[in-house]
Amino acid sequence: MRVPIIAGNWKMYKTMGEAMGLVNAIKKSLGSFDKAEVVVCPPFTALNTVYGLIENSMIKLGAQNLLWEKEGAFTGEISPVMLKDCGCEYVIIGHSERRQYFGETNETVNKKMKLALDMGLMPIVCVGETLADREANKTNAVIEAQLKGAFADISNDDMANVVVAYEPVWGIGTGKTATPDMAQAVHKFIRTWLTSNFNADIAEATRILYGGSVKPENAKELMAQDDIDGGLIGGASLKAESFIAIARNAIA
Ligand code: PGA
Repeated sequence: MRVPIIAGNWKMYKTMGEAMGLVNAIKKSLGSFDKAEVVVCPPFTALNTVYGLIENSMIKLGAQNLLWEKEGAFTGEISPVMLKDCGCEYVIIGHSERRQYFGETNETVNKKMKLALDMGLMPIVCVGETLADREANKTNAVIEAQLKGAFADISNDDMANVVVAYEPVWGIGTGKTATPDMAQAVHKFIRTWLTSNFNADIAEATRILYGGSVKPENAKELMAQDDIDGGLIGGASLKAESFIAIARNAIA
C-alpha cells in the first residue's frame, strides 16, 4: 500500500510571519489526521521558521529547489546541506516553472536528484507536458524523455526515496485540471515506465502525485484513480482551509 502525500508548494509566497500563520493554521486543523503524509514547501527564507513550528508534528518540510553541489562559489544558490540543516526531508526538483524560467534541464534535474539522494533528501521530481506537446500527441514522448533524463544512473535502492509528480504545464495555476481519466492515463504510463526501467516492485511502491489546479472540489475524483497517490498543490495550498480540505477529500 502506498501512503499518499499531500504536498503544498508555496512558490514565491509568504513572508516569515505569513508562513507562521499558515503553518499554525494547518497544524491546528489537521489535528490527528494520519491518512496521508502532509508536506509543506515554503520559500527558502521561511524554511527554518516553519520547521520550528512543525518539528514535533506529523507535518514534514520540503524545499522548492537546490543546487547539485554541497558548497562553493555559487552566488545565490542553496545546497542540500543547508536544506537538511533547516529541517527539510523533501525537495521539489524540476518544477516546470524552473524549467521554463530558470533554465532547468533534464540533465540538471538528474544532477540535483543524485546529490539530494546522496544527502538523504527525498526528491519530488516533476514531469509534465505543455499544451503544444499534448496537442501534437507528444505527451508520452515528452514525459518519457523527462523520466529518462531525471532517472539516469539512479540506483534501485535510491528509488525507495523518490516521489514523482505529474504536472501538466497547461494545468498549473490556470484553473484547468486534467480530467481524472487523462491524469490516470499519464500516471499509468509513468508507472509502466518505472516497471520497465527499474522493476515491478519499485514501480508499485513509488508514489506518483498529480499537480495542476487541484482544489477541494476536484481532489477526490483525481485521487481516487488507481495510480494517483496524492497531490502537489500550488494555489490552494496557500490557505489552510483549502489545503486541509484537499487532504481530507483526497483520502477515501
Ligand atoms: P497550482 O500549482 O496548484 O497552483 O496549479 C501546482 C504546482 O505548480 O505545483
